[in-house]
Amino acid sequence: MSAPLNLTVELGTRSYPIWIGAGLLDDAERWRAALRGRHVLVVSNDVVAPLYLNRVVAGLEGLSFSTLVLPDGEAHKTLDSAARVFAALAELNASRDATIVALGGGVIGDLAGFAAACWMRGIAFVQMPTTLLAMVDSSVGGKTAVDLPQGKNLVGAFHQPRAVVVDTGTLATLPERELRAGLAEVVKYAALGDAAFFAWLEQHADALLARDTQVLAEAIATCCRQKGGIVSRDETEQGERALLNFGHTFGHALETATGYGVLLHGEAIAIGMLQAARLSTQLLRASAADAGRLRALVARCGLPTSIPRGVEPQRLLDLMRLDKKNLSGRLRLILWRGIGQAEIVPDVDEAMIVRVLREGLRAEG
Ligand SMILES: NC(=O)c1ccc[n+]([C@@H]2O[C@H](COP(=O)([O-])OP(=O)(O)OC[C@H]3O[C@@H](n4cnc5c(N)ncnc54)[C@H](O)[C@@H]3O)[C@@H](O)[C@H]2O)c1
Repeated sequence: MSAPLNLTVELGTRSYPIWIGAGLLDDAERWRAALRGRHVLVVSNDVVAPLYLNRVVAGLEGLSFSTLVLPDGEAHKTLDSAARVFAALAELNASRDATIVALGGGVIGDLAGFAAACWMRGIAFVQMPTTLLAMVDSSVGGKTAVDLPQGKNLVGAFHQPRAVVVDTGTLATLPERELRAGLAEVVKYAALGDAAFFAWLEQHADALLARDTQVLAEAIATCCRQKGGIVSRDETEQGERALLNFGHTFGHALETATGYGVLLHGEAIAIGMLQAARLSTQLLRASAADAGRLRALVARCGLPTSIPRGVEPQRLLDLMRLDKKNLSGRLRLILWRGIGQAEIVPDVDEAMIVRVLREGLRAEG
């Protein structure tokens, strides 16, 4: 195993490392330092556990640990699943110095992190993300949540992990469509704040799709460095952190309009970013050439570029009005002035959005 990349999310006494490299699940000597007391609960799901759980368990020798394997899928990111985590912690006699290890994608990370935030008012947790989306986004930054029937991520807490262990080797088993959806978030980081990274992605898209672990590690590190920096400056999203939602207001609306499960989150974000870029050419005089480069990169990553047929622009706008980022009923969007230059735009004209979405239905198709 070559030496992993090592980053730090700077948050004073709550700062934590992100290790990135192939084979890290087996490097218990490294990650055991992030566990707190003697009690450890590993939470995973029934897709990831058969693949990787034994490697994590092998590193827990000598500790008092147990494992909880939940059913796979967003449908299980619920209070009921959190209750199962609490029951497992009680069974383990977990005290305030216990640690939860989250082994899986964003669903497991969000759920296990939420349970860690609640148990005895907050215990340690370690993220071991196994999807590209979780590696570049959800495992870093401490947003944890479960869904309610009324909506996604409605109950949650900010609770930072003690470490993030990114074993890039686990991406070998990730379904192709999930890998591509994760790439949408990678493109997002470049689009919103790093023009040089955008050019690098244009050069390395094929290597990323071929799952070259070295190239993947470099891309993941660049994303985590950017997200870690933003989180350390704006942990609870009072300002700058909102930029990470580039493409997300459109994307969330698309996910809801098409029905959850039709588009993967990353696919919806890909389409959403293209709408944001096109709106920006009209509203902020951003260059149309940059919007074209974004579209080309999204397509190259095998992601959808058009709003699915049958989705009504007016319906999308109605859904966008429900977005958490809006303030006092005014639509607040993350747009860009060009590649690498996203900004928060308050009070966007709704008629213009509908016009852009109408064109979008034709233009990208
Ligand atoms: N907390 C945050 O900041 C944040 C940010 C973005 C998204 N999220 C949340 O993340 C969730 C989506 O995460 P996701 O895209 O990772 O989905 P996911 O956790 O459902 O994983 C996708 C699929 O891949 C499977 N899988 C995971 N790792 C695998 C591997 N190595 N090999 C084979 N299969 C594997 C999973 O079992 C699942 O079927 C959503 O709930 C979203 O709300 C949170």
